[in-house]
Amino acid sequence: MKEILGIDVGATGIKGAIVNVEEGVLVTERIKYPTPKPATPQAMTEVMKKLIEDHNWKGKPIGMGFPAIIKDGVAQSASNIDDSWIDFPIVGFLNKKLKSPINVINDADAAGLAEQKFGGGADKKGLVILLTLGTGIGSAIFNDGVLIPNTELGHLKWKESVVEKFVSNNARETKELSFKVWGKELNKVLNHLEFVLSPDHIIIGGGISKKFHKYQEFLDCVATVEPAQMLNNAGIIGAAMAAPIAK
Ligand code: BGC
Repeated sequence: MKEILGIDVGATGIKGAIVNVEEGVLVTERIKYPTPKPATPQAMTEVMKKLIEDHNWKGKPIGMGFPAIIKDGVAQSASNIDDSWIDFPIVGFLNKKLKSPINVINDADAAGLAEQKFGGGADKKGLVILLTLGTGIGSAIFNDGVLIPNTELGHLKWKESVVEKFVSNNARETKELSFKVWGKELNKVLNHLEFVLSPDHIIIGGGISKKFHKYQEFLDCVATVEPAQMLNNAGIIGAAMAAPIAK
């Protein structure tokens, strides 16, 4: 049984648990800390260290999902975290600071990997789009099960800003939108994504996937649209799957 510490870093919380990566399940209760504000590399690394101590995991392999574009070990964006992450060599830095072999991928890609292998994507062929609707919007696209990494569908231009400012769960809460108003806007976004990408399946992830029944009636896509099956743990499980020796 392969066990890995999975860490799911979000704009609001940093969560960790030990994951059995062969079965896609948590083997310990997940532990969550608030994301420090400002969410700088130094402050966030301190929280990661706490998670490693909590799990007695120093020196052992870690997989991490992180809310930014991650290319060649470097963070290349920072939408809901501190700007100092932009162009930051995250993998090398954390390897050194956490004293553990670590790999970091985009958080939505991580959730997508878990959903694709162990959740609702497992039986789906063709083009699958997973959207995580949380503080921001993350996306993971799979073609016949193969991930196209670092897509940022939440950052498509929308009205005077970008998609995530209108249809993230955070936008719904802060603008106090009803599920009807928010759901209809989400539908417009999904219709646009359908036009440009022709997906076969769309999976809605993030905490709001639990309330899918409240907005499902406002969605009229050609592709099937369904909530993620793995709910909140997909991010941690997928993060662990991306660890250096998880495969
Ligand atoms: C970031 C993405 C991330 C998503 C969810 C967006 O603001 O740009 O990289 O996947 O939030 O955390």
